[in-house]
Amino acid sequence: MRYNRALLLLVLGSLPILRAGAALTAVALPDPGVPGFHFPESEATILTWVNDLGSGSPGAAAASDNITRHGWGLWTALTLETAQVDNGERLRVFETWYTPQEIDPQPGPTGQSVPARSINISAARHRAPLGNFVQFEHGLDPRDRDLLAQPSGSETVFGYVKFDPTAAAHVAAQQLLSTVSLNKLLMGGAQGIPAFPSTALTLKSAFQIISSRKLVDGRYYRLNVWSGPPATPQAWAPYQWPGVVWIDVKGGGSGSGQIDTLASTDGGSRTDQTTYPVSSMINHRISAMEALQFNRSQPGSDIEPGDYAVLVAMHVAGREIARWTWQTFWWSPTPDDPQAPSSEATAAARPAQLQGAPRNYAMSIGYDMTTPGQPNTGGQNAGAAYFTYNPYLEARFGVANLPDSMPGNDPSGRPSANNVGVNCNCMSCHVRANYNPNNLATAPRYAGARYTDMNDPQFAGTLQVDFLWSLPEIAQ
Ligand code: HEC
Repeated sequence: MRYNRALLLLVLGSLPILRAGAALTAVALPDPGVPGFHFPESEATILTWVNDLGSGSPGAAAASDNITRHGWGLWTALTLETAQVDNGERLRVFETWYTPQEIDPQPGPTGQSVPARSINISAARHRAPLGNFVQFEHGLDPRDRDLLAQPSGSETVFGYVKFDPTAAAHVAAQQLLSTVSLNKLLMGGAQGIPAFPSTALTLKSAFQIISSRKLVDGRYYRLNVWSGPPATPQAWAPYQWPGVVWIDVKGGGSGSGQIDTLASTDGGSRTDQTTYPVSSMINHRISAMEALQFNRSQPGSDIEPGDYAVLVAMHVAGREIARWTWQTFWWSPTPDDPQAPSSEATAAARPAQLQGAPRNYAMSIGYDMTTPGQPNTGGQNAGAAYFTYNPYLEARFGVANLPDSMPGNDPSGRPSANNVGVNCNCMSCHVRANYNPNNLATAPRYAGARYTDMNDPQFAGTLQVDFLWSLPEIAQ
């Protein structure tokens, strides 16, 4: 069995182009040819950028440019099209990567030993199924169940978490999705799981499914679009945003920045200027298999083969530094001048190599929790916070969703509760990720922007999972 699998991998690896029907192969992050972008960048280099930015030194502006370039370089590379085809459409790099479900445990026959782990390389591999997010559904333990629930009635996003081939190989080799192996680490006295390699990348993508039955005039889909954070920090879910645009599945629309603030549900307020072609978004057609899987997992959704899935948001994290790099992207009708937490300056730094639909996404990036920066251990919740979040993913969170928040300062240094989604920082929530099989009440939970010490006493009795919340949530 093992031998055959190795042989298959060898054969697959030697095929230059995979045609439709062939097994899909997860590809390593390609070099997008963006000048000045290197991956993996050395930890020392990235930490120097972070320190220069946080210290406000003369190097701060250059540091900001370097961090922004790095984020765009990652985005350019992982949205590049590969030669691989599924359902008649080319796959982008990230679409070839592995979901945690593809590296799930194969429980051994005895149930005694740690289950053998493998990565799915079967010929039946397709685009990953779109599912619910744990982050919205329930938390890590029973205390957090329903904590990050979707407000009812809101249009839901679906998607998946993915691991690049090197991150997936690490998960497989260390059996990080097996509670048996996580328990062994914990009982053996480990503080955390073995660290991922510097090449590890993980992502979380969110799609809106444009069900043909929800179209106005058989072609226009009403999409909530971000028009910036609310004046008073509060839960700010897509259905609360003041504007929409119309996505035309037939490719029409001259939209170049306008949004429809009347947002009539029947399309009465739609104009050509508030209409955008579906090709302006990263999209794919739902395959027969995808429709079947989706309708089975989301009863009542009745999506059909040929419907579009459009990418509204994507989170990307990389293990180049111990606390990971964090960048997030969302589709914007004004990609040249996007709303906070992105900016015109961030958009202006998009590299020339970023072309087509991926160029229409805004980026928010934060490689630290606070400025000035605090050390990984022994620091304090001081200085100004960086707010880094995705409108389609975190903005909906209210106070109840972020129980371990801690008051601090906003990015301009004014006192701020930092306890809602629009006051989030990726690193601040992910640094707290832990495996807590004994349901210790003291274990770290979700939080808004704040500092957390990697040796915080709250971790006692838990296993730190190298910042990846999905591991303890999916491990079985
Ligand atoms: C309040 C907590 C919280 C915040 C803030 C947050 N995340 Fe997450 N994130 C999660 C949880 C929980 C998961 C587990 C997967 C899921 O939700 O389905 C996750 C999953 C992920 C994953 C998949 C890999 C993993 O960690 O398991 C990535 C990548 C990611 N988040 C990036 C980001 C980025 C980038 C930001 C900031 C823009 C961010 N996250 C903000 C809680 C958070």
